[in-house]
Amino acid sequence: MRGVKAALLVESLTGNTWRAAESIAANLQQENWSITGLSPMRRPDHASIQSADVVLIGTWVHGAFVFGQAPWGIGAINALPSLGGKKAVTFCTFALNPGRTLGAMDKAVERLGADVIGGMALHRSKLAAHTEEFAARLVGALASA
Ligand SMILES: Cc1cc2nc3c(=O)[nH]c(=O)nc-3n(C[C@H](O)[C@H](O)[C@H](O)COP(=O)(O)O)c2cc1C
Repeated sequence: MRGVKAALLVESLTGNTWRAAESIAANLQQENWSITGLSPMRRPDHASIQSADVVLIGTWVHGAFVFGQAPWGIGAINALPSLGGKKAVTFCTFALNPGRTLGAMDKAVERLGADVIGGMALHRSKLAAHTEEFAARLVGALASA
């Protein structure tokens, strides 16, 4: 796919996930993707979702660090509008261990009707490298689609 249009929806408490999303968006723009919007998951920019081919959904890992990690804001994902007909990818930022966060996110995003093509956990102290890798993988996945 050329000239892919992407929307980003993010839940962030201390800013890591928001910064990750900005960095992913910048990397995708370098690959000639257009970003239709970057908005908080709890106040999603509906127009940006409607005009996107791919919706990127990011949140952060919340748990007891070792047990029971879960995506923060799964309720916000469930409250998003239908993503039927869209491709989606998930990402989360974490400190120690993302646990099963991505799997839980993928299930929730699939329930919105999206075709979830992948996801990646990004370590909060390696955001530059991990967001670059995430964007490169995404571009690669859609180039072969
Ligand atoms: C209350 C709380 C619980 C957390 N639990 C975990 C955890 O179980 N595992 C982990 O790897 N990181 C955990 N973290 C770290 C966050 O996932 C990490 O700092 C993330 O990048 C925060 O994203 P944000 O800056 O977008 O809010 C926790 C952070 C907070 C504030």
